[in-house]
Amino acid sequence: MDKIIVRGGKPLAGEVKISGAKNSALKIMAASILTSEPVVIGNVPNIRDVSVMAEVLQGLGVHVERTDGSVTLRARGPIGVEAPYQLVSRMRASIVVLGPLLARLGRARVAMPGGCNIGLRKIDLHIRGLEMLGARIDVGQASIEARADVLVGANIPLDFPSVGATENIMMAASLARGTTVLENAAREPEIVDLADCLNKMGAHISGAGTSTMIIEGAERLHGVTFDIIPDRIEASTFLVAGAITGGDVTVTAVQPEHMAMVLKKLGQVGCEINVGADSINIKGTSAPKSINISTLPHPGFPTDMQAPFMSLLSLARGTSIITENVFENRFTFARELGRLGGRVNIERHHAVVVGGQAFGGGAVKAPDLRAGAALVVAGLAAGGPVEIEDIYHIERGYENFTERLKTLGADIELVRDETPLKLAVGEDGY
Ligand code: UD1
Repeated sequence: MDKIIVRGGKPLAGEVKISGAKNSALKIMAASILTSEPVVIGNVPNIRDVSVMAEVLQGLGVHVERTDGSVTLRARGPIGVEAPYQLVSRMRASIVVLGPLLARLGRARVAMPGGCNIGLRKIDLHIRGLEMLGARIDVGQASIEARADVLVGANIPLDFPSVGATENIMMAASLARGTTVLENAAREPEIVDLADCLNKMGAHISGAGTSTMIIEGAERLHGVTFDIIPDRIEASTFLVAGAITGGDVTVTAVQPEHMAMVLKKLGQVGCEINVGADSINIKGTSAPKSINISTLPHPGFPTDMQAPFMSLLSLARGTSIITENVFENRFTFARELGRLGGRVNIERHHAVVVGGQAFGGGAVKAPDLRAGAALVVAGLAAGGPVEIEDIYHIERGYENFTERLKTLGADIELVRDETPLKLAVGEDGY
């Protein structure tokens, strides 16, 4: 099995260029279904989730061409309506083809994504929103079958500002008849990016980045050339890696305004942060302070950074409390961190992180994407070698993670298992 081996104790130093946002790339790729003209996306990260989305779209009949950092998609010719389980199970975000397929073809069948390691991850809000636009949806054990002769704009209040539901509804409403008002919409930067791209394709969306979005349905959408925003989670992960090693790291090609809450929390820990127009420098501290964190939808503290901060706060002076408000089961990471010497007590959706620990070496498994990155972060500060398995999770969302950490001075190695039979193990994990 492939693994990463980290030997910690080296303060990271230098600059790292941040890739395009995974969570934006995937949705904008799905938006290509909405037009028969070419959609050319720049700044696309070379990660596994992008490959899986390319496969999902190719399976539907979309022509996909990838060159270094860009993807060209053409949904011309016969487009299929079915996203099969074999692909959807590899990446839950495949569910975002549902809205575009309904809008373009009036029909979609998408395999049920099911739960994953961080919780149930229901899709009821996606379904209810699309139903309010006039779709008839049958939710079976194995798949969701949706049909609509015509989609008609509606007032849709979301019970929770779900990122995926906002995106599915926004894309479907872009080609609906009349006006959709989406209330309690998600406000993540990736939502704004998708709206910007759709508007450039001829959609009429206003209010993206606020809780109320207004979408005037357009007759048709056309092709586009669009560069996606930097990945704020990748950038934040590198900053935490700088912080935990007491290093001096600069992330470049970022949009610091997308990361305000993470930067505030790193400042509270005692790190020195210097923000440039499109770069951020962090200098770690030898005496990190404990802090409390509550994950919340944007602009709150991102749930995706909860695990890397748990690694960092394990070394802080005093006790920190992390409250997880977005996913119900996102603390499985605490157990793995415990194998390296972390002391975290879970009480329902609170994690009490006992600081003042020193990580030792050991073998651990990445339970999911961000937790995997957080184990690498912990390894960078560990006293003995840390071996991380199930690294396919990390490769879903971080491009060349080990190589880029190496350029910052980390002693880290990616060990590939060349045994062909084992390569597919765990592929369907998340
Ligand atoms: C996206 C991001 C993920 C991030 C999350 C929250 C992608 C590919 N993934 O995931 O990295 O952690 O936003 O910022 O963009 N929920 C329901 N019903 C629904 C939809 C969601 O109950 O119909 C619940 C989920 O179970 C979860 C919470 O709402 O507890 C947040 O989910 P959501 O915002 O939809 O996250 P994703 O779009 O899946």
